[in-house]
Amino acid sequence: MQKILVVDDTEINRELLHEILKDDYIVVTAEDGEQALRKLQEQHDSIAALLLDLQMPKTDGFTVVVRMKEEGWIDRIPVLIISSEHAVEIENKCLELGVSDFIHKPYEASIVRNRVRNAVELFNYKKQLEQKVEEQAETLKKQSQIIQMQAERLSKAKPFNTLMMEYRSVIMEVETKLKVLNAVFSEEYKRNPFESIKSRLKTPESIYKKLERKGYSFTIENIQNHIADVAGLRVICSFPDDIYRLAELLTKQDDIILLKRKDYIKTPKTNGYRSLHLILSVPIFLADEKKYIKVEVQFRTIAMDFWASLEHKLKYKKDIHNTDEIERQLRACAVSIEALDYQMQEIRDRIEQ
Ligand code: GTP
Ligand code: MG
Repeated sequence: MQKILVVDDTEINRELLHEILKDDYIVVTAEDGEQALRKLQEQHDSIAALLLDLQMPKTDGFTVVVRMKEEGWIDRIPVLIISSEHAVEIENKCLELGVSDFIHKPYEASIVRNRVRNAVELFNYKKQLEQKVEEQAETLKKQSQIIQMQAERLSKAKPFNTLMMEYRSVIMEVETKLKVLNAVFSEEYKRNPFESIKSRLKTPESIYKKLERKGYSFTIENIQNHIADVAGLRVICSFPDDIYRLAELLTKQDDIILLKRKDYIKTPKTNGYRSLHLILSVPIFLADEKKYIKVEVQFRTIAMDFWASLEHKLKYKKDIHNTDEIERQLRACAVSIEALDYQMQEIRDRIEQ
């Protein structure tokens, strides 16, 4: 049986409540606020609910509620105020401090039982939920540690290292192709079509997580078949039309196979994200074989890259408030950036003419 603390300065009231509740709970009593606080101090972990009179000599019920709030007990123990007065102001103050319910004198036994049962059940449920959330957080933490360990172990294996060497090689191949195009371009148009290239190899941990999310185990075949962006390049251009020209020149090359093209510039994502994505299959030449390797190439303007990096940073930041407002602002910025990109392009055309 769970324990209920009844606090009332009138003996007859304490007895009455004891009588009503004794079949379902262990009832302990206190004669004033001070005694109540002492009992709470000692037994707050085992008390399932508090029935509290407001008007008591010396330390009154309201003081008890304030202390319970300060100690954080009011979040763990439901407090039901038993009072004869219907003082709206004081009841509101109590509710603001976290009091669960009111039972007005003279009390009806069945109402008292039902109210106490409801409050206790609600708090039990709340505690169970909190415990579950804690357990799940703990499980997630453990799982993530396991993933990290497994990914680390696998990443030391030879076939995995060979595979990563191949992805590094394809990055070099595509980077060279783009640099050659840059040279050709600047010969012809007297300017560079891209500002910079960034490349990255997915980490073992991130590969592991992506495979797991897609429901595949961590094997060489699954990495090759189900992840297209282990090798990734980001080409930052000055103008939108350079993006399309470069992408076309690249995909036109007869050793490159275009596997997928996603044009988020023509059709931006709902959040405002804009870039041109190509998934390519590009051959690399190994000691005694030619092998096609997948690589993701993202093309963006400087402005689009500025937007995407900022949005990415915000997305992974915890505890952001006003996300709706931030998302709305980001969408607005994406629209401005689009206008800016084409305006700059127009200026460039005029200057070139
Ligand atoms: P991933 O599984 O994340 O690779 O996504 P996907 O297979 O659905 O492909 P998609 O073309 O949508 O995204 C590929 C990559 O583009 C992502 O890994 C990011 O680098 C980038 N990207 C896509 N959407 C967004 C976005 O909304 N914001 C930012 N900052 N980057 C994005
Ligand atoms: Mg990706």
